[in-house]
Amino acid sequence: IKREKVKSLLNTNEFDREVTVMGWVRTFRNNQFIAINDGSCIGNIQIVVDFNNTPEELLKRITTGAAISVKGTIVESLGKGQRVDIKAESIEILGDSDPEKFPLQPKKHSLEFLREIAHLRFRTNTFNAVFKLRHALAFAIHQFYNERGFVYMHTPVITASDAEGAGEMFKVTTLDFDNVPRAEDGKVDYSQDFFARATNLTVSGQLEGELAAMAFGQIYTFGPTFRAENSNTARHLAEFWMVEPEVAFADLDDNMQLAEDMLKYVISYALEHCKEEIEFLNNRLLEEEKTKPQNERSELSLIEKLNFCLNNDFERLTYTEAIAILKSSKPNQKKQFKYIIDEWGADLQSEHERFLVEKHFKKPVILTDYPADIKSFYMRQNEPDAQGRKTVAAMDILFPGIGEIIGGSQREERLDRLTQRMEDLDIPQDEMWWYLDTRRFGSAPHSGFGLGFERLILFVSGMTNIRDVIAFPRFPKNAEF
Ligand code: 4AD
Ligand code: MG
Repeated sequence: IKREKVKSLLNTNEFDREVTVMGWVRTFRNNQFIAINDGSCIGNIQIVVDFNNTPEELLKRITTGAAISVKGTIVESLGKGQRVDIKAESIEILGDSDPEKFPLQPKKHSLEFLREIAHLRFRTNTFNAVFKLRHALAFAIHQFYNERGFVYMHTPVITASDAEGAGEMFKVTTLDFDNVPRAEDGKVDYSQDFFARATNLTVSGQLEGELAAMAFGQIYTFGPTFRAENSNTARHLAEFWMVEPEVAFADLDDNMQLAEDMLKYVISYALEHCKEEIEFLNNRLLEEEKTKPQNERSELSLIEKLNFCLNNDFERLTYTEAIAILKSSKPNQKKQFKYIIDEWGADLQSEHERFLVEKHFKKPVILTDYPADIKSFYMRQNEPDAQGRKTVAAMDILFPGIGEIIGGSQREERLDRLTQRMEDLDIPQDEMWWYLDTRRFGSAPHSGFGLGFERLILFVSGMTNIRDVIAFPRFPKNAEF
């Protein structure tokens, strides 16, 4: 099929040239002007119809949502806001769209409504911009790691381990749900199951990533991960994509540097390569801000926010330092936080993270050296502090409007320390023999982190709900599409 893309025609100077364009009708005004979009860009091209010489039957079928093919010539536009129109010579309907039933009308729909028709929302300008941005960010991530000589590893989606030890896993089984075989002691008999053992969808590719890093030196994974956590928030998905680099012979400082470099690289890639999308989303956000009361409006526009992030070093401080700041902060003293910080050891909630980033430092923050008790088993144990408090070489990167965008650590490379910790946490070592082998045979310091890909897209797009930056969001009670 020969056709030209709207994107390449919008700025052409080749007037009078004959072209064929295909796309979906956005609007049809006065039986004369059709706006079509073919997905190649956010904007539409206008088709000018000679309605006196077009059969009425055909005109009736040019409805919002219909797919059409137009042969015509490029002419200077009569309207404002565009340079080029196509003067139609012939129009063919490729696929009708019943205007009574097609849910996308030529007006602004709420994001909530569009979520209910996620299979059609790609056809809106907003989602065109968001998913082009998503594509570009994925590409930029691969480019960043490729330029630095990292090996892209595909880690398994089905595993028998719980990388985070948080127990938030989706089971994978072929057992008959209504008739689960049980052993004499009443426990499920997995010998009948496909893998002859209990398995689940992966929560993180890290453990396998560590094995590969201890051979290739530096690797990254980029794949879907699954969490059966019952978090009905604008920041959580049950299925999300994670980018997980892992580097041998690297400590926590190296890890922080890599993370900051990567975030800045991909944000600047987006600013450079997604101008149209980011400008559109910037304006969208400005419009949205106007509907808010003055004191709730954001001080920076989306583009200013992205540039600000590029031009400033991330603030680095320890958990202990952060707790001191939070304890004496106004919202804590006035009991405006939902969770009041009253002692060392408390896990930070997103309200605290956002206070640090948005109110206190007003820039991205890297928090390090968290209490061992609130972090995963594999994190490297620091020497206890003067007061005997135990911390681990963890790092979380907190972003404005997002909270935690990255979680990572230096890994515990000392076998005795690692097995002791697993014992304390009741993590079965015999099932993790392969993981422990890296510590038995040529162990070395190594570090890595996980970037929540959708949280990155949230930040760069200025969207506010994570369900709007993944095509088919999975969250509690929702797996419709
Ligand atoms: O902090 P998390 O749980 O860390 C890990 O899984 C480590 N194994 C990563 C590593 O060191 N290789 O998750 C990492 C990031 C979080 O910072 C967050 O951005 C994102 O993944 N994330 C989620 N994103 C969307 N929905 C959820 N339910 C998420 N849970 C974590
Ligand atoms: Mg985390």
